Amino acid sequence: MNQPTTALDHLRLGVCYYPEHWKEELWADDFRRMAELGISIVRVGEFAWSIFEPREGVFSFELFDKALELAHQHGLQIIMGTPTATPPAWLTQKYPEVLNVNFNGQTIEHGLRRHYNYNSPKYRELCAIIVRRMAEHYRDHPAIVGWQIDNEFNCEISEFYSPADHAAFREWLQRKYGSLEALNEAWGTVFWSQTYTDWSQVHLSRMTTAGKQPNPHLYLDEKRFISDSVIDFAKVQVDIIREIAPRHWVTTNGLFGHLDSHRMTDELLDFFSYDSYPQFSTIFQDPNEESPLADRGWSQTLSTVRSISPQFCVMEQQAGPGGWVNRLDMPSPKPGQMRLWTYQSIAHGANMVVYFRWRTATFGHEMYWHGLNDYHNRENRRIREARGIGRELAEAGARIASTLYKAEVAIVRDYDNEWDGEYDVWHGPFYWQSRTAWYKALTRRHIPCDTLCLRQGTTLEELRKYKALIYPHAAIMTDEAAALLEEYVSQGGIVVFACRTGYKDDRAQCYMRPFPGAAAKLCGISVEEFTMVKGTRAAVRMNWLSDESAGIAAADTAADRFNDVLLPESDTVEIIATYASDHYAGKPAVTRNAFGQGEAWYYGAVFDEASAAQVISRIGLQSPAEGILELPPQVELAIREDAAGPLYFLLNYAEEPAEMTLREAKTDLLTGRKLQGTISLEGFGVLVLA
Ligand code: GLA
Repeated sequence: MNQPTTALDHLRLGVCYYPEHWKEELWADDFRRMAELGISIVRVGEFAWSIFEPREGVFSFELFDKALELAHQHGLQIIMGTPTATPPAWLTQKYPEVLNVNFNGQTIEHGLRRHYNYNSPKYRELCAIIVRRMAEHYRDHPAIVGWQIDNEFNCEISEFYSPADHAAFREWLQRKYGSLEALNEAWGTVFWSQTYTDWSQVHLSRMTTAGKQPNPHLYLDEKRFISDSVIDFAKVQVDIIREIAPRHWVTTNGLFGHLDSHRMTDELLDFFSYDSYPQFSTIFQDPNEESPLADRGWSQTLSTVRSISPQFCVMEQQAGPGGWVNRLDMPSPKPGQMRLWTYQSIAHGANMVVYFRWRTATFGHEMYWHGLNDYHNRENRRIREARGIGRELAEAGARIASTLYKAEVAIVRDYDNEWDGEYDVWHGPFYWQSRTAWYKALTRRHIPCDTLCLRQGTTLEELRKYKALIYPHAAIMTDEAAALLEEYVSQGGIVVFACRTGYKDDRAQCYMRPFPGAAAKLCGISVEEFTMVKGTRAAVRMNWLSDESAGIAAADTAADRFNDVLLPESDTVEIIATYASDHYAGKPAVTRNAFGQGEAWYYGAVFDEASAAQVISRIGLQSPAEGILELPPQVELAIREDAAGPLYFLLNYAEEPAEMTLREAKTDLLTGRKLQGTISLEGFGVLVLA
């Protein structure tokens, strides 16, 4: 977080509004009805470059001035967007070098949005001009409190191959490696005679004999470079706003690929914002996934957002059915679902929830991406639901706002492994399966869980907040990262690794050491041999040994997708499970190493929910609400707490009511009702118990 801001001191509702889409006669009524719903902040402007600067160097603030004046009269505050996600036609026609180019070398022309590249000096210059003019014009506006930079960096497209990008990549590499020799070494270019003898031969990935199959080390650097390019591009705008409008806060929205949102937020923003559309769960879900979490799965994404900003803004909260003209994306939220998703965001740390959008445009690509209102503007079910939420938060908001999400377990991720794993299928896809399996196993046992992003500069203090860290398939592991984890475990922490751990350095080259490489000392094992598992899921199984002293029975689970056959190398290692089939039947599949005061687990395969559950019970992880609340698996528990005590958020994602038992008397903050004993929570219902 860049500097203290009061933006998130209160819990507040907002809405996205586009005055440029509507006749002026509608504005006053729109703002009046927003205020009446309990909405206090409105996001505007983020795509309106052609309004603010209709021709090069000609600036026009009239439309927004009038709209903002009316909003202000209705007591509404404003988040102003910089419009740089949508360079207008005059700009791209005159300066075609600002356009992005795709991998196949085709220019991405004007016509949708995000058609620009981050590295064109001309585009940075034109962005600096429009942002400076807007900041100068609006710095003292009584309604404006903060800025959103651009919109959803790397949404729609997260690859950039314009001439400006190739040139900037070369400079970036020169800074990083200093010499071509060092670059050749890092990228292993001696392989297949890829050795570069002049910097002009170096490019971002380009078409190969077999399509898009770049050198893997280059490809990892390419993603690091894209991320740095976004941050440099954003910095131009942030610096101008900080200089001219220092009283305003600055954020940006969205969580997309090839961008280190943690670094961007630390270096540039006051807090991070996310756009939450839980119904994307119906689109992005793997059809073969067992027992999917659907919209509840969004909670895990929110845990990543929280790892960037412990309290954050949801800049777009789904408020209606959605689709583009050529996409039938999202069913209409059922009665109660919009409220449920609002509290899902709040439960996970959102202190500002801005609905997308007030009313969708009657034209354009997104004319079916509906918001709170229908085109006719008559009171509808979603408006009534929003009004109810507004009333509840007017009462409960103050108590919630100062609290922070509380978890004793974190699933660890890091950008290098994610970016490398997009290409390297020998570890990347495994991470997503194991992460999902763990999240399901934890959330269905009501064990709140954070995401922890391991980065250069992560401190022991950050790790020590957690009793256990789940860090599966971290192929890339530096000795420094391993040393930090060793320190954490030696002081009593628990780390859980899985197959394909620790065998690559930060260039994504393999170490010439026994697996698990950098993690070998901590785990006390080596990998005797390994194999991918071909054929049906669960083709190989493993036997979990009983532990009578802890009352744990023997069990059998799948040994999914890839098997590391483990060899204990130290007396401190205990074998927890053995493989049940194939030529390595009977050999160790899961081990636990006592290390200092803590323990390091190595799970030889890719997790499914049942195997994650085995580790959970053997580690002794329990719900913090144990003995207080008895909850069915379909209800999510989230806890936000401060010095005044915990708040238990109970979220029922099912359409059917859920039975639960409160062992202690509690008060529901949203209704003021006192509850105890067995109660029924309605379908899509929410309780916030104090
Ligand atoms: C994103 C964008 C919005 C809008 C919605 C719906 O979240 O930020 O401008 O396009 O998606 O598609």
